[in-house]
Amino acid sequence: MTQAATLKKMMSSSVSAPLPGDEQAALTSATAPPRVICVTSGKGGVGKTNITANLAYALARKGKQVLVLDADLNLANIDVLLGLTPRYNLHHVFLGEKNLAEILVRGPGDMMILPAGSGVMEIADLSESQKLYFLNEMEGLGQKIDFMIIDTGAGINNNVIYFTLAAQERIIILNPEPTSLTDAYAMIKVLSCNYDVKKFRILVNSVFAEKEALNVFRQLTKVADRFLDSLSLDFMGFIPYDDRLPQAVRRQRLVTELSPDSSAALRFVQLAEQLCREKNQLHIDGNIKFFWKGLFNL
Ligand SMILES: Nc1ncnc2c1ncn2[C@@H]1O[C@H](COP(=O)(O)OP(=O)(O)O)[C@@H](O)[C@H]1O
Ligand SMILES: [Mg+2]
Repeated sequence: MTQAATLKKMMSSSVSAPLPGDEQAALTSATAPPRVICVTSGKGGVGKTNITANLAYALARKGKQVLVLDADLNLANIDVLLGLTPRYNLHHVFLGEKNLAEILVRGPGDMMILPAGSGVMEIADLSESQKLYFLNEMEGLGQKIDFMIIDTGAGINNNVIYFTLAAQERIIILNPEPTSLTDAYAMIKVLSCNYDVKKFRILVNSVFAEKEALNVFRQLTKVADRFLDSLSLDFMGFIPYDDRLPQAVRRQRLVTELSPDSSAALRFVQLAEQLCREKNQLHIDGNIKFFWKGLFNL
């Protein structure tokens, strides 16, 4: 069976006759609506793609169904990081040439990857019937997933703003470079002042110790507090600088998979655990269809 056919079968299985115990539980692991988390940054090259993919992998290893939306238009992104070559993307779905199941790609740990490709740029121009068709397809998939993680490009552009607004949670990635701080601040300022987004989670990457991460976070809150009222910046944690990460990148593998005992990998697992623990505490408003509806302006 082809990959697409397997996924299609998996997605349609929700309407089949009840299955006994374990099998049923395995097929319907996602009972609550998926959490839709957008990973973004002011500056490029701070680790968004690695963080998205490694978090997705760590969540998948915990038995969660994870969908990664690769919404960065730049070429060197998740597919390159993982050594995948998706033939089709959202563009083909919007053209009606492929359905959603046919463009999804399986990544490490069985995560699903939705390649956006040039389709991302077409979202604003879709007809009503194209949007409805897509939302319908997405709803079937949404019932099967626990987390959708969106890897966006960096900086303030329409594409990044669309995805950041439509997601339920936003993680902003910073590293200790001063430019990463100023660019993150600029991004938060635009999202807060122009789009009324007030809640951000801050994850500091490539630090040598937690103290350094907290220092970066403190600097950000200092500049932000002075200018932005009612802003909520939440320190989510940090990922250490770890040579094993670029080593894995060079081999087109994930550090969590290739070097599970490395300091970076262990932090990714902890962060995934943190996300899983929070799941029941959050009031989750909406679901995956809601996310796309927001994106489509419906
Ligand atoms: N925690 C880390 N430790 C060491 N190097 C890192 C770490 N995070 C990222 N890098 C380096 O930064 C590069 C860019 O990361 P990437 O995830 O592609 O950034 P972005 O998606 O934000 O552009 C990686 O290929 C890797 O070499
Ligand atoms: Mg990237």
